[in-house]
Amino acid sequence: MPQYFGQLHTTEAPWSILGAVQAIQQNERHILLLCGDPCLIVSVLAPNLIRVRMAPSGEFLSRRSWAVALADEEWPTVPFEVRETAETIEIETEQLSIVVSRDPCRIQCFDSVGQPFAQDTDLGMGWRTGEVAGWKRIESDEHFYGFGEPTGLLDQRSKVKTNWASDAIDYGIMTDSMYQAIPFFIALRPGLGYGLFFNTTYWSRFDLGAQQPGVWQMETQGSELDYYIIYGPEPAKIIQTYTQLTGRMPLPPRWSLGYHQCRWSYESQDIVRKLADEFRQRRIPCDVIHLDIDYMNSYRVFTWSPKRFADPQKLIGNLKQDGFKVVTIVDPGVKYEPEADYKVFDEGLKNNYFIRKTNGQLFHGYVWPDKAVFPDYLRPEVRDWWGNWQKSLTDIGVAGIWNDMNEPALDDRPFGDPGDKISFPLDAPQGPIEEITTHKEVHNLYGLMMAQASYQGAKISRPTERSFILTRSGYAGIQRWSAIWTGDNQSLWEHLEMSIPMLCNLGLSGIPFVGSDIGGFAGNATAELYARWMQLGMLYPLMRGHSALTTAQHEPWVFGDRIEKICREYIELRYQLLPYIYTLFWLAATTGAPILRPLLYDFPNDPKTFSLADQVMLGPSLLAAPIYRPGVEHRAVYLPEGCWYDWWSGETFIGPIHILAYAPLEKMPLYVRAGSIIAIAPVMQYVDEHPINQMRLRIWKGVGEFTLYEDDGHTFEYKTGAFCTTTYHVYSEQQRTIVEIAAREGEFSPITRETIVELVGVGEQSFVDNGTAHRLEFST
Ligand code: GLC
Repeated sequence: MPQYFGQLHTTEAPWSILGAVQAIQQNERHILLLCGDPCLIVSVLAPNLIRVRMAPSGEFLSRRSWAVALADEEWPTVPFEVRETAETIEIETEQLSIVVSRDPCRIQCFDSVGQPFAQDTDLGMGWRTGEVAGWKRIESDEHFYGFGEPTGLLDQRSKVKTNWASDAIDYGIMTDSMYQAIPFFIALRPGLGYGLFFNTTYWSRFDLGAQQPGVWQMETQGSELDYYIIYGPEPAKIIQTYTQLTGRMPLPPRWSLGYHQCRWSYESQDIVRKLADEFRQRRIPCDVIHLDIDYMNSYRVFTWSPKRFADPQKLIGNLKQDGFKVVTIVDPGVKYEPEADYKVFDEGLKNNYFIRKTNGQLFHGYVWPDKAVFPDYLRPEVRDWWGNWQKSLTDIGVAGIWNDMNEPALDDRPFGDPGDKISFPLDAPQGPIEEITTHKEVHNLYGLMMAQASYQGAKISRPTERSFILTRSGYAGIQRWSAIWTGDNQSLWEHLEMSIPMLCNLGLSGIPFVGSDIGGFAGNATAELYARWMQLGMLYPLMRGHSALTTAQHEPWVFGDRIEKICREYIELRYQLLPYIYTLFWLAATTGAPILRPLLYDFPNDPKTFSLADQVMLGPSLLAAPIYRPGVEHRAVYLPEGCWYDWWSGETFIGPIHILAYAPLEKMPLYVRAGSIIAIAPVMQYVDEHPINQMRLRIWKGVGEFTLYEDDGHTFEYKTGAFCTTTYHVYSEQQRTIVEIAAREGEFSPITRETIVELVGVGEQSFVDNGTAHRLEFST
């Protein structure tokens, strides 16, 4: 490892441990516990949200402005009681109580019926040179989720999870540090769940019982221990509060919910044009084409190759006429090119926007453009400058920005030579003057801050249009600025399978707009793998196919007619489901609810769902059990409590039950909950091809409710009320099923359309829908 990389891990000196409480002070939000030099603050921010901070030195740092969206003072004050006994200090909110033992000072939490959670062990909280840590009990039936995009299983119990944003190239089930560094998890057992956000941007690590069964540890290289406990009891409530704290996804443009086609690279404007024609001629819906690094002139960011993309504006305009949007990759490394009239470099240098070493020299590493320097996105003026450069793309019609390599990924010598992956020097100064710090504290924020620069830049250049930003790296709160994809996966069955728990854990980490590269990035998919991946990919919130340089082509038609037909059918299904999926996006934007989620999200009291990593739900209604092994046409499916219908055949099952599903290549097992109401649009070739002139409500008998959300799909007017909702109810009365459609509410008016209400297996009725209320009856 090059010497300037510095020491990430300090020596394993013994921990000093927090002693007895000697005095206590309190105001309307905080309880300060003095324990000799060290002190502890317990803050009540909401009835289910407690912040705990421990400073070994007794001095708390002022709050940094980078990660948490809502500061302590921004939470409305809530009532709580403090009761002191000889042994304890008890803090009680409407939903939980925190019991602090006085000697030694340790914290325990209890729900309203006295069940303990997040209890300190004997060690409790400690520190040693350069590090702080906390230890808590794992209950015997407790499971752990979230952590960003961990590989391997869904439940992370017994694993070690390091939060240090890394280029996780070649990742596999044993990989620890990933592109995303999200120090947040949900601990779940039947009847009780809590979330824990470890509020540190430094290197940090969770040990979930690996070293010591029954104990989980959090450890960071920061100087104080700072964490939030979020009581549920359900994951939905935990994520709702966690995303109040770290922010929520703004609604993306509706077109970004369509199919995206990407490759490293479609390397000339002619190839891109032909690709677009293929989609339209073959009637395979597609909305977005991504341009990978070869559109640039020798990988200089914010340039176009004069040879291969001589007239990008014309190309983009031309594609637009056929309903395609273009997304371009933007890497952070700026080609080091003095005296070459490369303005991005010249301006960045002149204004001192690039990261330097402590001795004042420019830091450089090697990446696509070879020798490159890196903007310090932590500084607002650098973000503004970058956002302004993005205009060179958006002004000619680029509709979305794909931020890559922003962990950042770089080498210590010319790219291609066998070298070491490096990071910036840990002592490199970063940040605005008033908050200056070193890379050590903010390494994990590089992707987050780049995404913020992109998002804000896009908003300034097109103030009325929503933007689509995609990033590889991020930190807690990344959902505020960007969608994310799970980086360089491989064309392997194992990676198809692993995409399910990875995307589910991202959803449980507050990040709803997520996807994995369909077909796999590295390597060559077989026809069968590709078809199975497209089936599952239909459910990914971000549905993008991608493949790497030198691999075989991965477009829907390259594997022959049979596979093409399967791809068309599943992409069409995606487009048909868009009214339902867009509503899930709205719910994610307003409550944080994951769009794609593991079964435990909707069935948190059913332990059978706790490790279920090969089934997934799209919203509360659809359950998929994809095939993820070659040659397999049958698989076991677990259907939790309630009545379920087979999406394809209408067959019913009463859960909880295990069934054996038959799934020839054309079929991904898909189930729908009784009482579900799914709004379906006609097949389109792209999202904005025409307004939805016919809406089919597919309803499965039972008791249920669904509220459909609609707006213009591309501006911010929804924020000032330009949206509408329609609530549908289904229930049974004697031998009849009743469907009630409430009058449309809100300021937005979709075009008058035909609404077809289909009671699956029974029949259908239709009416001209201008937003008035309806009551329909079906004899069943
Ligand atoms: C990185 C990205 C990948 C991209 C490639 C070339 O490996 O993760 O998606 O295609 O760089 O830009």
